[in-house]
Amino acid sequence: MHEFNQFLSASIQQARLDQATESEILTFRLFGNKKGFLHLKNLPIGTIPPTPLDRANLHKDCTISEQVILKATAMLGDPIGYIQESNGDIINNFFPHEKHSTSANSDSYDCELELHTENAFHAVSPDYLVLFCLRQAPGADAATFISSIDSIRDIITAQDLDYFHRENYNFLSDYCTTEKNCRIDINQKQTVLYGDPESPFFRFDPQFMVASSKHAQLKLESLRKAAWEVAHPVHLSAGDLLIIDNRKTAHARSAFSARLDGNDRWIQRTFAVAGYRYYAQRLGKNQRVLDLVTTL
Ligand SMILES: [Fe+2]
Repeated sequence: MHEFNQFLSASIQQARLDQATESEILTFRLFGNKKGFLHLKNLPIGTIPPTPLDRANLHKDCTISEQVILKATAMLGDPIGYIQESNGDIINNFFPHEKHSTSANSDSYDCELELHTENAFHAVSPDYLVLFCLRQAPGADAATFISSIDSIRDIITAQDLDYFHRENYNFLSDYCTTEKNCRIDINQKQTVLYGDPESPFFRFDPQFMVASSKHAQLKLESLRKAAWEVAHPVHLSAGDLLIIDNRKTAHARSAFSARLDGNDRWIQRTFAVAGYRYYAQRLGKNQRVLDLVTTL
């Protein structure tokens, strides 16, 4: 981790974000916006080698993109990793893997990823996700969808808002050592909306939420429909940085084309937490890479 901290420090000094970009990021952190994301274009990515076919063949000499994503992340909070996501790497790299083509994870391409809040079951879920596009899909057909609670609130009733503030759903964990997308009951029963009812936070992962009754399941379905109704599609090109407020939104991804020839889509991702010192205090550990935390 010492090595990473040195790289983080160098990134902050060396990465060039222009003044307008810096003020947009800080404004988003301080005030947010209704759609729950910030899409910045034409950031420097440096020299990008052919997209690797698997993580073992990931060799990237130029580190400009890593420096840029880290500096942007550090403006939002502390960059953190999760031991179960890319082995705890702070910067995750995603590109199509043939063997995962349809397996509903970030290395897939042939299948859609359903709306979800990142690590909604985790007591330290990230405040922000940062996605940096190094290469667009060859068919330019990859879309990221973001659905914010502030937009959903426009189309659902006050009674439903109140319901989702009170009804507990059991959020399953997908953390296990052997495979992605397992479903583990960690007894994480929590509401979809939390915080200030007038300006709620939102966690939503319908495929990993268990309702306590048929009625609660139907409510969940109707919320999923509402979330899709207001979802914004975003198409990322090389040099685009997408910052997602993970406490206000759920996101999804379309299926997209891949050729497995070095020209495929390549995305770097980081997580930022805003309350790092609070977590260090609660957990009694000052750690950048987190294991599963169910309560604070
Ligand atoms: Fe995600």
